[in-house]
Amino acid sequence: MTDYPAEPWRIKMIEPIQQTSRAHRQQAIRQAGWNICLVSSRDVYIDLFTDSGTNAMSDYQWSGLMLGDEAYAGARSFQVLEHAVRTYYGFEHVIPVHQGRGGENIISRCLIRPGHHIPGNMYFTTTRAHQELNGGVFHDVVIDEAHDPASEHPFKGDVDLDKLEALIREFGREGIPYLSIAATVNMAGGQPISMTNLTQVRELADAHRIPIILDTSRAVENAWFIKQREAGWASKSVAEILRALCSLADGAVMSSKKDSYANIGGWIGLRDAKLAEQARGLVVLFEGLHTYGGMAGRDMEAVARGIEESVEESSIEARIQQVAYLGQRLLTAGVPVIRPIGGHCVCIDALATLPHIPRQEFPAQTLAAAMYVDGGVRGAERGVVSAGRNPLTGDNLFPALEYTRLAIPRRVYTRNHIDLVAESVIRVREEPGRINCGLTFTYEPAHLRFFLARFAPTTGDTIFAA
Ligand code: F0G
Repeated sequence: MTDYPAEPWRIKMIEPIQQTSRAHRQQAIRQAGWNICLVSSRDVYIDLFTDSGTNAMSDYQWSGLMLGDEAYAGARSFQVLEHAVRTYYGFEHVIPVHQGRGGENIISRCLIRPGHHIPGNMYFTTTRAHQELNGGVFHDVVIDEAHDPASEHPFKGDVDLDKLEALIREFGREGIPYLSIAATVNMAGGQPISMTNLTQVRELADAHRIPIILDTSRAVENAWFIKQREAGWASKSVAEILRALCSLADGAVMSSKKDSYANIGGWIGLRDAKLAEQARGLVVLFEGLHTYGGMAGRDMEAVARGIEESVEESSIEARIQQVAYLGQRLLTAGVPVIRPIGGHCVCIDALATLPHIPRQEFPAQTLAAAMYVDGGVRGAERGVVSAGRNPLTGDNLFPALEYTRLAIPRRVYTRNHIDLVAESVIRVREEPGRINCGLTFTYEPAHLRFFLARFAPTTGDTIFAA
């Protein structure tokens, strides 16, 4: 069994959580319209819905909160944040936003016009939604291996350069406002992009004068994988690798709720002064003044300190290895999970786990509900429901990957919690026949439907066999 190092921190403050009965959870999921996202956190024992904003802040971050400058204009805390982003990510212009999607809204509005095409290494829900809202069409140019749960490719976040070149040939520089590149790739299961590949993408982008916007939400985790897996980087620090990754991009959109251990916050980082000025203008409209962008001064202090902590080698190692430990336990027990294990999550292949549930009945949504009822563990659907509909035809999109994601918050759960999660998943996996049917929509929102949708079992009033 793969082990993981003892955490380089100890627990100073605790938050009580409690297990409920199976009957209670059956009732809770039914009331939530079989959507795990609508279950109250009070009724969840181990919450692996997301690693976003759910991290435990350090005493260093909490003490920073007391230093927050809450001035509306020109807050000192903004300068602290700006300094941290410039130092660790290397972007000259730093524009705060309330969280990642706030930045996606601004960047999409600045750069995308109706009829534009945006290539990217697999879609992300909120990123693509903002691209489409602004009239753009997203094109997936990730390598094929990213869509194969069994492929052991070490950099499943890599861009397929042939696919990208073909798009550039078809639409030209005028049709492609920027390349939307993520590090790591969330929807592939937290898979990294290699420095070599991003360098090649940069060369192609330079040749056609197309900018690259990097989603840096989990770029520290990506840097860790580069250090472990890519020739020539083992002796560099994670901080150096992070700077090198960012140096290949023209701009970045950051959700500080991931790598930076913050509960809220984000920023846009840019090199081009004119684009930065345009973005500031929109931030003032949509987020808040350009020196707080929807965050309180104290939030900016917490983000700045979180950035410093995020590149500490022992912290990032313990984090990634904890995720790997859960993945390895499941693999050893024969649970079909996306390989290799990614940076922030373990993804259970719902098609292989529940082969008797048709795709139209949302196997990953069904599996998430079943896991919750079994052990009080909350995962998240990443399949048809998350993929949504083709904006032109209105048809459901059926991505190759259909999985239930267990995303692990940073510095929150102990090994005993992780073991409990593994045991619950293994139980569900061992008796798929206990799950009788899948789910169908009773309410389907127009955008990001996975958050607010409601479902009903396709037969009877439960998904479970009598
Ligand atoms: N980009 C990536 C790669 C993300 O994973 C997320 C959020 C965002 C952008 C948007 O950032 O939530 O701060 O507005 N991912 C969360 C998740 C919600 O659970 O994967 P946000």
